[in-house]
Amino acid sequence: MLPAVCCRSLLLQRLLRLRSRLAVGIRSPLRDFGHEPFEGAQSLGGQSSASREAGEGTCEAAPSLPPGPESPPSLPPHLPDPGVLGPPQLPDGPPPREHGPSPPALAQTQTRPTSTEVPFRVGELVLAETRKKNVEVKLFTLGSVGYFRKSRRSIPFSEIEGKLPGQLLRSSSGKQFMMKRPSLEDYVLLMKRATAIASPKDINMILLMMNIHPGDTVLETGSGSGGMSLFLSKAVGPQGRVISFDIRKEHHEQAKENYKHWRDSWKISHEEEWPDNVEFIHKDISGAAEDIKSLTFDAVALDMLNPLIALLVVYPHLKQGGVCAVYLVSITQVIQLVDGIRMYGLALSCEKISEVIVRDWVVCLAKQNSRISAREVESKTNTELQLSSEENTAAEDEMSQEESNEDSHSALPDGPLPYVAKPSHKQKSHTAFLVKLRKFKFHPSISGDRQ
Ligand SMILES: C[S@@+](CC[C@H](N)C(=O)[O-])C[C@H]1O[C@@H](n2cnc3c(N)ncnc32)[C@H](O)[C@@H]1O
Repeated sequence: MLPAVCCRSLLLQRLLRLRSRLAVGIRSPLRDFGHEPFEGAQSLGGQSSASREAGEGTCEAAPSLPPGPESPPSLPPHLPDPGVLGPPQLPDGPPPREHGPSPPALAQTQTRPTSTEVPFRVGELVLAETRKKNVEVKLFTLGSVGYFRKSRRSIPFSEIEGKLPGQLLRSSSGKQFMMKRPSLEDYVLLMKRATAIASPKDINMILLMMNIHPGDTVLETGSGSGGMSLFLSKAVGPQGRVISFDIRKEHHEQAKENYKHWRDSWKISHEEEWPDNVEFIHKDISGAAEDIKSLTFDAVALDMLNPLIALLVVYPHLKQGGVCAVYLVSITQVIQLVDGIRMYGLALSCEKISEVIVRDWVVCLAKQNSRISAREVESKTNTELQLSSEENTAAEDEMSQEESNEDSHSALPDGPLPYVAKPSHKQKSHTAFLVKLRKFKFHPSISGDRQ
């Protein structure tokens, strides 16, 4: 029998041989393009080494009065009519053929192009994305004349107009940008803010809690920057209706502006219009009983400091079995809310209190150098969205440094794969507690005179 040390060393030698074979097998064809294997997949912010530069600008996200005298009329009960990586030298010509038998082609049933096939047009929102150590994004409106600018870099609008989304373009200084059509999530994260928005990950959960459908009528308070309003608008569709209150004039105005901006851009790139189904009302919800007296809501979403105030007004208009979803930042607010519901005797059962935790991961190309340290990560392959570049870059540098120090003690590769996959260093922190309240009816024998 071989001693344990000998077995380990044999195993290690085999692993090293396997690793070098795999590395040669995978890498050789790609080397011809001057790219590492993962670079194609990481092509978003591709950049040649000649154009590497530090200190990219950040995308802009802008960072509040008593209620006005005007009081909107009561709402009608009717629905209104409705960095380093990237493919700068990607070969021209058709994409490589797939191997193996191909399934029968699907029939084209659409006669008009889908939204993804519509090229960029003047007036619509475009998202430019580039990456160095992190992903950096900038949202802008495509003009008929002028330039897209980021830091000292620029690309003429004329070069973007007519291109399909997903186009990589080079700036005057050689930096590569991918031009994309922003998703609603992109837009909500990057639009101008009057106040903190509800995070899209939390909005998603709120939509699940509310269980709303096209055609539903929902109430929202407050409108804030209009982030949640847009998602609610989408969920209830053209036949549905969103009534959104905000006590502060400038928040109310910003929410309206953001909603209009999104709809206007949508109109340019889509055949169907984005539904015009949100009624923004500048008013304190505690005084809105008259406005909503003829309405019954399928669901309610509350994102405001003291949701109990709103609940007392809205509760009689929430349908039995309907859900009120509440967004609260601290757990003490949750306790206050639950206690308030008990004190006022509201027939609302607290079905769920959730926090949405998103854990981001990175898959990075390990550094291949003579010291063969697969744990030495190329931080430049980090895929995180960067909204504020400077502080993140500093943190990232610090982390790379830590990793290098750690690696200096490591002589062995981690395995045959030249990648490192691990949770991202920069995780999103706590955003909110989401409370799901369902309106119920007491059994007569239990409730006595309660409704
Ligand atoms: C955090 S913001 C809402 C953000 C919004 N959900 C978004 O995604 O953009 C909270 C809003 O509630 C509004 N608000 C607070 N108390 C209110 C009240 N009593 N009636 C109406 N709006 C109120 C504030 O003015 C503020 O704009």
